[in-house]
Amino acid sequence: MSRIAILSALAQEQHGLLALLLQPQKVQRAGREFWLGDLHGHSVVLALSRIGKVAAATTATALIEHLAVTRILFTGVAGGLAPDVQVGDVVVASSFVQHDLDASPIFPRFELPLYGRAVLACDEILSALLFQAARDHLAEASAAAPARHRVHRGLIASGDRFVSAQAQSVALRRALQRAGHEALAVEMEGAAVAQVCLDYGVPFAAVRTISDRADDQAHLDFATFVREVASQYACAIIGRALRLLSNK
Ligand code: ADE
Repeated sequence: MSRIAILSALAQEQHGLLALLLQPQKVQRAGREFWLGDLHGHSVVLALSRIGKVAAATTATALIEHLAVTRILFTGVAGGLAPDVQVGDVVVASSFVQHDLDASPIFPRFELPLYGRAVLACDEILSALLFQAARDHLAEASAAAPARHRVHRGLIASGDRFVSAQAQSVALRRALQRAGHEALAVEMEGAAVAQVCLDYGVPFAAVRTISDRADDQAHLDFATFVREVASQYACAIIGRALRLLSNK
């Protein structure tokens, strides 16, 4: 049986999806609540990753070990790092790096010890599906109310820090660039879920809407965006992705 997990970091990002879930059934594991049910014709589990890499890794592991998920999608918000990644844009991850992983000088900065690499690729097919779903959604939204939001696809950096100062964001981007990584956005969970999925051989992809610019007013923009916009984006993009998956 195929079962898709849909992870969100926060309850506000999840509530729209939960409202659409058919035959919802709540299961508890690892101190977490998981919602099993049907969404757009697929057997799914909705879960909150919680915040930060360890919490997200525990959630992903519980989904794979106890709930037999065969694919994981992550939907949430992120801070824009690259200059052209603006609030309201969408970033679909092609890959992830942990920006706070530094075992140098034993291993190169950002490299995952014993994995021989810093960058973890997302599943090509799922990532392409999310990209198409995000583009379709923004095209439809801007036909109704013209806006110039864009969909990007590339590297996302994850770490256990809410980046809320322009100086931090510039330093982070430069440090990654020095190691050859051009990150589009920053968040706190994706790379951890990508690592668990690599270990278990479970296909994984992620889509993040940009809630803030990881600058001095990031905390204000983040709170407003999560309250007012995040859930609609999650519902629309995941809904489209699941419908595209049915047609494949
Ligand atoms: N998620 C959304 N905005 C973020 C930021 N500025 N830093 C880390 N995670 C985020």
